[in-house]
This record gives sequence, structure tokens and C-alpha cells, in this order.
Amino acid sequence: MTSLANRFPPEFLWGTATSAYQIEGAASVDGRGPSIWDTFCRTEGNVLNGDTGDIACDHYHRFEEDVQLMVAMGVKAYRFSISWSRVLPDGTLDSLNQAGIDFYNRLIDCCLKHDITPWVTIYHWDLPDALEVKYGGWLSNEVVPLFADYAALCFDSFGDRVKNWITLNEPWVAAVLGYGQGVFAPGHCSNVEPYVAAHNLLLAHAHAVERYRVDYQPSQHGIIGITNNCDWREPLTDSEEDRQAAEVALEFFLGWFADPIYLGDYPQCMRANVGKRLPKFSEEEQALLKGSSDFFGLNHYTTMYAAKQHADDPGQSVYGNGGLSEDQGVSLSVDESWPKTSMQWAVVPWGCRKLLEWISKRYDNPPLYITENGCAYDDELESGQVIDEERTEFYAQYINECANALENGVNLQGYFAWSLLDNFEWAMGYSKRFGLHYVDFETGERTPKESAKWFARLLSQESSKKVVGSAA
Ligand code: GAL
Repeated sequence: MTSLANRFPPEFLWGTATSAYQIEGAASVDGRGPSIWDTFCRTEGNVLNGDTGDIACDHYHRFEEDVQLMVAMGVKAYRFSISWSRVLPDGTLDSLNQAGIDFYNRLIDCCLKHDITPWVTIYHWDLPDALEVKYGGWLSNEVVPLFADYAALCFDSFGDRVKNWITLNEPWVAAVLGYGQGVFAPGHCSNVEPYVAAHNLLLAHAHAVERYRVDYQPSQHGIIGITNNCDWREPLTDSEEDRQAAEVALEFFLGWFADPIYLGDYPQCMRANVGKRLPKFSEEEQALLKGSSDFFGLNHYTTMYAAKQHADDPGQSVYGNGGLSEDQGVSLSVDESWPKTSMQWAVVPWGCRKLLEWISKRYDNPPLYITENGCAYDDELESGQVIDEERTEFYAQYINECANALENGVNLQGYFAWSLLDNFEWAMGYSKRFGLHYVDFETGERTPKESAKWFARLLSQESSKKVVGSAA
């Protein structure tokens, strides 16, 4: 334990993460408008057991207690998201809801009072439903300036205290699961729409960053970036074609969103394979996008093998986690010996290190934050305790690989565990528990799991190191 903590520099940022719709509840309290997730949950069959985020963890009313949980763990940063329709019920500045602004002011102030730095995600998939109804959501570029307006409202309202902004969480998921596979809101199935939605999401990010850089960053001195998700893709064999397949899979997954931001355009393999279905950026848009992230936010959960797809194999993974796999010509699989979480995601800690190294190399060693990493298990509360050994082991191993990546030269600056609390796991409802704290969804009661206590021990080693360091 001591040695693991010691492998990170004193300024390394440790945090936990959540998102608004997954924990807040209070879905129609104090003037909040509905989001596409409120609507999506109401269609039978979309979410397991008909679960909704109506109450969730009731963080809206219990946030002070939740900040205390972080204090007990010793984390120094809290990544949460703002619900767009809580502050702007119809999505536009015409509908400003002061009660929504007040809530986030209370939350931010409470974090700061306890020396916890807020890391604020502006958009974590919960588009105001009014914008879906009026414009067709992310399929319309009319949403782009509206997102920039909403982001500017956040900078205006909270930027005096919030210095770390994430424009979008995982646009890949919003595009692929929301518009490609139809398993997330707004529930569309298409092989064209994901590329359109992704394009508009990227432009929305770029415009929000421009607003920040021109109007706020000079006086507020914060940083702004985007969080993308990616699994690692390991070549199934050493053959050139499998190595190529793994590369293509990574470019379709992460390059889709990171290449325009770091390199100025979509990856070449995407332009070649997707053809006319892939929108093009104008030169002006390319200039706006390039360099539009002060840091590289990464959410990482699992690893799969990639191989060249042959005529007789369908190419789709068992988990459907390959994105628009028909455009990639890649066949995905897992090693049956890899342990799995209750999401059926393989636990492959070295995949995390390899991905960090791949990013570092491709994008010229940017400052990197893991903004989510974690796992779901079928936890049980027994006699007031949750002994989640598998989760503790998961964190120990993944954090160990983060330390290895650091030692190999990756510019990793922080790590946020997903998640502070068990919460509404999207289409899986409350059936999957990702929390460091167990939540009884009947009573709302929180119980620290053994993994939260393990983290507290890790972080106390960290802070004693700092004291020693500063005395020296
Ligand atoms: C991420 C997402 C989170 C959380 C997590 C676990 O993709 O940002 O909201 O649900 O996965 O599935």
C-alpha cells in the first residue's frame, strides 16, 4: 500500500466521479425541466425493471452527506455534472431557473469548504427534452450555439470558483449507444446518425471552449477540456493484419473524437471506410477544434482483442462494445481466462497502461486525467458492511498500472474513481453497483464499502508523504 501511494507525485489529483442524472433525483423539483433520459426511461423496455432517475440517490437533498463521504476518504477532487435542464428547463437562456443555479452554488461551496476541488462536467448525456422535441437533439447543428450559451451560463455563474471544466462526457456513447444502437437516449438505430451527432457534439465542445478562452479564461484562470472513453484493443495475434485491426479499432473509438481535437481532422481510416456518411469540417471548424482541450480526459473500463474481420465472421463483439463495427472490419473477442465484472467487462489492468501509452504517443504526451475508472459487482450489505474484495483488487491493479504508465513517461496527472455512490446505471437501472459507497435505494442510506476504506488508506499514505515532503 505504502509503495503504491509513493509511486505518485505529491501533486497527483485523486478524486471520485458521478453525473447528474445518475445521482441527483429531484427530477421535477424546483423547476427542473425533463431531459431525454427522463423521457427515455418512460418507454417500457428501455431501462431494466422500468427504473428511472426520478429519485436516484437523492443527492439533490443529500449532497452535504455525500461531500462528507469524500472527506472521510480523503479525496481532493469531485467530478460531477450539471443538469442542463435543471438550470435551463427548455435548454435556452430564456428559461433560466435560479433554483437550479442555487443548487449548484450550494454544492460547489460545500466542496470548497471541505477543500475538495470541483471538476465540473457540463454535459453528461442529459439533453433538455425540449431541444430533442424542437430540433431533433444532436442531429441538428442548431443545438451547437445553444450548448455554447449554456456553457457560458455555467462559466458566468460558477467560474469564479470552478477552475476545472469538462465540456462533454463521452460523446462516443451519446453518438453510438444513443443514435447507433438505440440502447441509450434518445434511442435511435442508424448507421448515419451517430456520425452526424458526433460531429455536432464536437462542434458544440469547440464553441464552448472558444467562449471560455475568449470571455472567461483570461480572468478566471481555469482549464477546460473534454472527456472521451476508450477500451484498449489488443491485437489477437502478432500478425500485421491483426495489429492493423487493433489500430483501426482504436482510431474508430478514440481517434474519432480525439484526432479532430489534437490533429485537426477525423482519422484517415474513418474517412476512407465511412465515406459520405462522415461529415466534413470546414477549415474554420478545424481551426476551432484543433488545440481545444487543455488536458486529455479519459474514461477507461475494459479491454478486448481485435483481429481482422474475415468474410465468415460477423465482427460484432459479444458485448456490442465496438461502436459501428460494420465500418471497421474488425472482429472483437475476449480471453475467457480474464475475470469479468458484473457488466461482463473483462478486468485487464495492463490494457489501461497500454492505452495511456498509446494516447501519449499519438497525441504528443498531453496532460492526462483518468476521469473515470471503476467496476460493478453484485455487492451485498451484510451486518452493516460491504466486503467488496474484487473491487478493491480491481482498483489496486488498475492504479498500479497507472503508476507503471507514469514511470514510462505518460503525463498522467489525476485519477477519478467511478463512482462515489451506487447509482442509476443508465439502461441497466439500479441493477449494477459501481459505487465506493453502497446505497440502499429504499431508504437512501449510504454505507462505505471496504473499497472506500482501502482508498482512504491509500490516500492517507499520499498525504503523509506530502507532509514529509513539505517538511523536508
Ligand atoms: C461511463 C459513464 C458513466 C458510468 C460508467 C459505467 O461510460 O460516463 O456515466 O455509467 O460508464 O458504466
